[in-house]
Amino acid sequence: MKIISVIGARPQFIKCAPVSKELRKKNHEILIHTGQHYDYELSKVFFDQLGIPTPDYNLGIGSASHGKQTGTMLVEIEKVLVNEKPDVVLVYGDTNSTLAGTLASVKLHIPIGHVEAGLRSFDRNMPEEINRVLTDHASDLLFAPTQTAVVNLKKEGMSQGVFLVGDVMYDVLKQSIHIARESQILKTLAIQPKEYFLATIHRPSNTDNIDNLTQILDVLSSADKKVIFPVHPRTKHFMKKYGLERSIGENVQLIKSVSYFDFLWLEQNAEKILTDSGGIQKESYLLKVPCITLRENTEWVETIEDGWNILVGTKKEKIIDALHNFNPTGNQRKLFGSGNASIKIVKILEEYSSRNFLKL
Ligand code: UD1
Ligand code: UDP
Repeated sequence: MKIISVIGARPQFIKCAPVSKELRKKNHEILIHTGQHYDYELSKVFFDQLGIPTPDYNLGIGSASHGKQTGTMLVEIEKVLVNEKPDVVLVYGDTNSTLAGTLASVKLHIPIGHVEAGLRSFDRNMPEEINRVLTDHASDLLFAPTQTAVVNLKKEGMSQGVFLVGDVMYDVLKQSIHIARESQILKTLAIQPKEYFLATIHRPSNTDNIDNLTQILDVLSSADKKVIFPVHPRTKHFMKKYGLERSIGENVQLIKSVSYFDFLWLEQNAEKILTDSGGIQKESYLLKVPCITLRENTEWVETIEDGWNILVGTKKEKIIDALHNFNPTGNQRKLFGSGNASIKIVKILEEYSSRNFLKL
């Protein structure tokens, strides 16, 4: 099977690592990096650390408005697909790179596999929600990470080609946590386990809006513990634009985005995690670290149902209350599979492609 995987942003590098490894055991994978993320600490570090092969094509699209970024990717991905004629295209998650890969493939009648299908926040203001819905509806093979995702797809009329495989982020976490233990990040930052909060934000609703961003930074500054805050470039841009860097409390340690292994170790040892990231909500659940989600909604509703994640939006009082009083201890269900989602995905792809060959 000749398969093209389209990736371009930080979480996609992490998600594709275990799938790519499995895929390459028997098949020919061609990797397209759209170039949506391009800073070393948002891109290359993951290739180096997780052993992801160098992309066959780096389209170097970079940052731009949604239309320009997605449109330019579409044009460039199409050229590669016409040239390479893959049997299947694999896309991940819900970024503009996902949508561009999907549109380019569906117009050329190339079957699409969507890893992380069926996720819904039901919030159409999120660019990711539009990307997810469109990608799911254009895909032939829908690899759902959770039962909720399967139900979401069914409600939108999709039950054929849907496979509950578990979450590939659990695969990569399981494969990496023992390596993360070797991380020197706590030493470098001079922090002790369970004596700090870990924070990340990058959702446009939190970063691009001056009131929300100010509120969040104020709360972090008023926390009674050290806050380690790896700053996403989008957030850095708006903190600078709104002149908010100067008013940040001394307890908040701003650092650059860190590598996957360092970040896993920071998560594992944090007292609590504050985030608006999708992937980090899951990782904190899997690592049994309380997660305070700075959003009004989430795609990962099971983590809330199990009591390990709480939605607080950007309201100061709610966040502070959670910092003091949110102390989950309850049981966890096995929500994200068994850490073998990549193996299942590749098996399904191989069966699908051999059936398609027989049809020809
Ligand atoms: C993107 C995804 C989001 C995902 C996130 C993961 C979309 C619409 N959004 O958001 O779903 O959760 O990645 O991190 O696809 N920038 C740099 N260096 C880089 C990349 C970006 O400085 O290497 C800056 C640029 O100023 C850019 C901004 O960050 O304008 C936003 O980047 P972009 O890729 O458009 O969206 P993200 O916010 O990163
Ligand atoms: N991550 C990382 N370094 C950081 C912050 C996050 O390696 O400084 C990893 C994190 O472990 C998770 C992924 O990035 O696997 C989440 O990506 P992000 O928050 O950018 O996107 P989202 O999941 O919200 O789409």
